[in-house]
Parts: sequence; C-alpha cells; structure tokens
Amino acid sequence: MSELKAVLEYYRDLGVKSLYRVAPVAITSAADLSPVVAPVLPPAASLEIPVMPKPPQLFTALPSLEPENDSFDLIRADIGDCRRCRLCEGRNKIVFGSGNPQAKLVFVGEAPGQEEDLQGLPFVGRAGQLLTQMINNTASKEGIPITRDDVFIVNVAKCRPPENRAPQPDEMEICGQFLSRQLAVLKPKAICALGGTSAKALLGLKEGVTKMRGNWYKWRDFPVMVTYHPSFLLRAYNVEAKREAWEDLKKVLHFVYD
Ligand code: URA
Repeated sequence: MSELKAVLEYYRDLGVKSLYRVAPVAITSAADLSPVVAPVLPPAASLEIPVMPKPPQLFTALPSLEPENDSFDLIRADIGDCRRCRLCEGRNKIVFGSGNPQAKLVFVGEAPGQEEDLQGLPFVGRAGQLLTQMINNTASKEGIPITRDDVFIVNVAKCRPPENRAPQPDEMEICGQFLSRQLAVLKPKAICALGGTSAKALLGLKEGVTKMRGNWYKWRDFPVMVTYHPSFLLRAYNVEAKREAWEDLKKVLHFVYD
C-alpha cells in the first residue's frame, strides 16, 4: 500500500492527473533501463560505453501493463481520444505513426509539428521532406532497395506541443508507454533515434546528440542508432552535421538490410 502511495505521489509531483494505463514499463522504467546500455556492435577503441542511471526503485516492484497480445489496433484503441496530458488541448490530430507495420527499421522522432498535426501523419513537413530524401537517396546510392514506405516512422509524443517546444518529461512519460508498445509490436531489427529528445526517451541518457550520434545503443534488445534530427539539419550552417547524419544513416541501412 505504501508503494502505491509512493507511485501516486511520484506522478502527482510530475503533474500527472490521470493514471489511466500509465504503464510502469514506459520508456524510463526499470525493464527499459536495464541491463546496462552498451553499444551493440563492437565499439571503436575510443568510444565510451554509456552507463544507464539506476532506475527509480519505485518502478521495479510494479508489474507490466503491456497487454500480452498487443497490436497496433489495441494501441490505437487505448490511445483513443487521448486526454492524458495537456498536449491534447492544442492538437488537431493525434499522430500515431506511419509506414510499413512489418518494417525492419523504425525511425523515432520527437513530436508532430504544424503540418503533422493537421494531417495526422509524422514527418510530412519540411523536416519530413528532408528525412524522406535522406532515406530514399541514401538507400538508392548504397544499392539498398527500400524507400521511406518500407520503414516505420513514429514520434515520442503523439500530439503537437505548443510553439513546437520539446515535449516535457511528464508528457514523454505518459506518451512513452505507447511508443514502447509500438516498438514492442514492430520488433524492428534496428531503431534510429532522431535527435536528443528521442535518444533521451529511448535510452535515458543525458549526453548531447553530438556525443551520442553514430554509435549503437540498446533499447531493450533492439539496437538503437542515434543521429541528428532533420530539423537541426535544415539549418544552413550544419553542413558537417549533414555529412555525419548521412554516415549514420548508411550504417543503419547496411546493418538492417545487408
Ligand atoms: N519533427 C518530429 O520530430 N516529428 C515529426 O513528425 C515532424 C517533425
């Protein structure tokens, strides 16, 4: 009983008012954070192996709320007309994610922007066009017969934050349960985390993207490659970052499709 009280106080302190299906195994739970995250592929000699922060004791005692026979239909039904956090107030459409449900590769972005919010689809604005080009052109140049339609694209937060701000920790925690369920259903060969918010949600790491990009980590048993967010790459001065992002993408594509 005191454990339950501690959990409720924890969520109250986060500003969470409704606990409907807030899974204790959301992205930052014990199950997700352990075992210690280490690069999946042999790291370069100089690469530091990041060590995960210890998960809050709170989560370790709690059972998973992920349904055993989970599916996209169930997840969509559970999301419903979601009102679990403040992001519902300004959204037009919930952006579930899109692509091939059998995809071997999943890209995880941050949150919908204006265009995504209007269409209900991820990465359809300017950043999305760049992401599409990156996937299609890199695959084609590398002789890998896939296009954007063959991967799955999803965001950490399913609703557009006001002014395109980053999702806040409680919003990520609440929505993270759906992301973790989507990834568990997809069972991809690899995940590509686009930008710091995605990397933080999946890996719980505080390092900046510049330090993490190009390396392999793990979310549960799934290899995760961190790279720059396409919005960041749209800024004209990021020529070097663009080159690095292309390198990261090549690595991911060859790992998944070779
Ligand atoms: N940026 C994101 O992170 N996701 C989108 O869907 C669009 C822009």
